[in-house]
Amino acid sequence: KENKLWGGRFEESVTDAVERFTESISFDKLLYKHDIMGSRAHASMLAKQGLISNSDRDIIIEGLNKIEKLIEDGKFEWRTDREDVHMNIEAALIDMIGEPGKKLHTARSRNDQVLTDFRLWCRDAIDLIVQRVKYLQVALLKLAIKNEGLIVPGYTHLQRAQPVLLQHLLLAFVEQLERDAGRLLDCRARLNFCPLGACALAGTGLPIDRFMTADELGFTGPLSNSIDAVSDRDFILEFLSANSIIAIHLSRLGEEWVLWASEEFGFITPSDAVSTGSSIMPQKKNPDPMELVRGKSARVVGDLVTLLTLCKGLPLAYNRDLQEDKEPSFDSVKTILGMLEVSAEFAQNITFNEERIKKALPAGHLDATTLADYLVKKGVPFRTSHDIVGRAVALCVSKNCQLKELSLDELRSLNPVFDKDVYEYLGVENAVEKFSSYGSTGSSSVAYQVDYWVTKLGIT
Ligand code: ARG
Repeated sequence: KENKLWGGRFEESVTDAVERFTESISFDKLLYKHDIMGSRAHASMLAKQGLISNSDRDIIIEGLNKIEKLIEDGKFEWRTDREDVHMNIEAALIDMIGEPGKKLHTARSRNDQVLTDFRLWCRDAIDLIVQRVKYLQVALLKLAIKNEGLIVPGYTHLQRAQPVLLQHLLLAFVEQLERDAGRLLDCRARLNFCPLGACALAGTGLPIDRFMTADELGFTGPLSNSIDAVSDRDFILEFLSANSIIAIHLSRLGEEWVLWASEEFGFITPSDAVSTGSSIMPQKKNPDPMELVRGKSARVVGDLVTLLTLCKGLPLAYNRDLQEDKEPSFDSVKTILGMLEVSAEFAQNITFNEERIKKALPAGHLDATTLADYLVKKGVPFRTSHDIVGRAVALCVSKNCQLKELSLDELRSLNPVFDKDVYEYLGVENAVEKFSSYGSTGSSSVAYQVDYWVTKLGIT
């Protein structure tokens, strides 16, 4: 067996079971690019500070570049006995270039190294997620533009409530996603500080320049407290929290579309490209992708809970438990990226069944609130008008008709204030237009919102 990089004080090598149990190379090799990036910056800084020679620096960087290429070509041998990505790369570098390679770990510990890698990885992951959030926003906005003017029932308690423009409803998701991206970018700004140079926990007496490495790696600056730098995982908790909120938003979008695709709602028809069938029922066409979006949200929330639980009760500073932060984080990012991608594809592949939606619109007295507002405009206190319209609805229920089908005499029998202009308020088409104040669902208000998003998302 090879002597470990930390082998000096050890007489025996670890058992196979311990090696298998403690390794992280099987998953943290995902960090190789960021690990090498960090090492290059570290070597440059060591040379500038006179801690290694310029020629050692050049040999180290050339070796690291070669290793990066080997990894990318699938020719690098990842070794479990070398435990993790950091030691695999460092040991391979020493194998490759000899003595200069042994100088790379000057004024560095794996504790600050792993966090440098991880923060760099989070930054890239956030950028990727924010981009996919935008793709989904664009897909939803395009779907809205394609269906301009379509009125759908709005629900509360999943009971028909008020008429809304489909555009308004789709833009509700666009708004949520905008805040989701904002949360990720806030998190990115807060996590963009460099732990490198914090070393094991106490910092170092060697004359390093932490500002230089921070700068070279694109960080805002170095973290100020070396103990904090290697202890906390709040940045990843924040990141996974932001992912969890996205997951919950997408889960709700998924539920909406699954419901709409049902025979009972029949609002949308997803194309075959985003549907799957049944192994026994020949007629089935299911909206599985969105069901899985709903389902996979559980994983993303689970990943966050794993991380929270992992950190709870840990003493300062680094503890090996923290190695368990990687897999849930990788899983959260991979899952959320998939959820965003598939949701955007689904949005591109649904058709709204206009005829069917129109036919079903009269049900549920969606214009009742508008009628109550009509009475308010005539000077009736809202509580009273609510009661009057309630009785009008009861009359409709007993006659099995719509509000707009009641005669003026019938309406006046409830309250003499009704006039023939009342019919401009009744029926969903009239009713929806009356929702005109800022942020409401009427067409002028919604057109304003659509314009805003077209400009903001740069749609042509
Ligand atoms: N693989 C470790 C992790 O992911 C790297 C840090 C190990 N540090 C140590 N002192 N054992 O946390």
